[in-house]
Amino acid sequence: MGKLEETAHDEVTLDPTDWEEIRNLGHRMIDDMMDHLRNIRREPSWREIPVETKEFLKGNIPQTPQDIAEIYDEFKKHIFPYPSGNIHPRFWAWVQGTGTPFGALAEMLAATMNPNTAIGEHSAMYVEAQVLDWCKEMMGYPKTSSGILVSGGSMANITALMVARNHQTEIDIRELGITAAKGRMTLYCSTETHSCIEKAAEVMGIGSGAVRKIGVDENYRIDLNELVAAIESDIAAGNTPFCIVGNAGTVNTGAIDPLDDLLSVSRKHNLWFHIDGAFGALAKLVPEFARELKAIEEADSVAFDLHKWMYMPFEVGCVLIKDAGAHRKAFAVEANYLLNHERGLAAGPDPMGNYGLELSRGFKALKVWMSLKEHGVQKYAAAIHQNIAQAFYLGELIAKEENLELLAPVSMNVVCFRYRRDGLSAEQLNRLNKEIVMTLQEKGIASPSSTILNGRYAIRVANTNHRSRKTDFEILVSESARIGDEIPD
Ligand SMILES: Cc1ncc(COP(=O)(O)O)c(C=O)c1O
Repeated sequence: MGKLEETAHDEVTLDPTDWEEIRNLGHRMIDDMMDHLRNIRREPSWREIPVETKEFLKGNIPQTPQDIAEIYDEFKKHIFPYPSGNIHPRFWAWVQGTGTPFGALAEMLAATMNPNTAIGEHSAMYVEAQVLDWCKEMMGYPKTSSGILVSGGSMANITALMVARNHQTEIDIRELGITAAKGRMTLYCSTETHSCIEKAAEVMGIGSGAVRKIGVDENYRIDLNELVAAIESDIAAGNTPFCIVGNAGTVNTGAIDPLDDLLSVSRKHNLWFHIDGAFGALAKLVPEFARELKAIEEADSVAFDLHKWMYMPFEVGCVLIKDAGAHRKAFAVEANYLLNHERGLAAGPDPMGNYGLELSRGFKALKVWMSLKEHGVQKYAAAIHQNIAQAFYLGELIAKEENLELLAPVSMNVVCFRYRRDGLSAEQLNRLNKEIVMTLQEKGIASPSSTILNGRYAIRVANTNHRSRKTDFEILVSESARIGDEIPD
């Protein structure tokens, strides 16, 4: 038997010996899942993880089998009760969608089929193609454009920027590398742009120093004069400006850059125009925002997350590229073990690895496909509209509350505010507001997160939550004011 020693054991399989046992356990799991989601409003928005659980989760790798019902009991005791809480109606931290019951079931089905949505003639490849077509419809992209589902906004942005980098130079960057480009390849975006753009620049080899961070106005929108001056200065210095990244919803305040103007500047200077619309691009579905976001249709690429404002279970993001040829050229590989055939399993659509960094990929498309069918896109538009209306309502509540103030104008679904008290220094106010955020979370009242705006600590609400109701925002406002009042100077 060569290298392997012959064993006396039976042949091994990881399938159960008792299928009825696992079936019954599965039914119990589904019951528990649905009860959990149905009753989530009765739970605290967050609870501390006990020391005992943290210790339990440090145990060594299991060497021998354990009863599956017992494993499930451990999950129920140590894992299930301590979620981050983004399924809760009063969770508005960072930018995290809420998920849905049907989306969770879709994940189970996807894991059951367990396809590698990379290559081959099988249904998952066609489901993803259809989901991408639906994404194109939502963003007003032509069917001839291309795209790929990825883990999230960060991967969607880097995928688009790699295409932009390669497409905007005469040389073959894939072969020659970035050092063959003329001068430095430079990219332009506002100071409010998400950190993943900088990370992408580092990974792409242009370096974070090549990300020209342009200042913003009082509404946190990019300053166009400064942008044009920066591009012209780079051209004069012999650099290669290649891309403008516009924000459709900045992470800090939800501001939308003047996208029409950015489009004009990029066309004038022959630059790639990419839009980071991680959450905000989806506001395109809401008639009141359609005009402001119309330039997405003209952009060269757009990145957005379905696990944010489409409320899909984590993870799933999407990138769309107008020029499908440029997209493929940036990633396509030929390998003897990845050949497409005319018939059989190795036939089928163009392998997905030709459109992104990953080869092996899960079946994230299924939850999107099933969820969009379950609700229809109009219901998503209504939920997004509701989130925006709730953010404006929260803004009004804060404006009415004597001890609270808004720190940025509400322009979409993000609200930044703080507690104020006369006589406190800037540093004391920052400390007090941080204390409010931690207390709101620790008491399980609500989970906003925070940011710093012009040196001021802000309590930050990013509303991509389809479970939130107006009363949830009323609770946030009254409890923030109450906790603030109780904290001594
Ligand atoms: C504007 C923006 N861009 C990019 C990202 C990164 O997205 P992800 O966390 O899905 O990688 C975020 C995340 O909040 C974001 O708000």
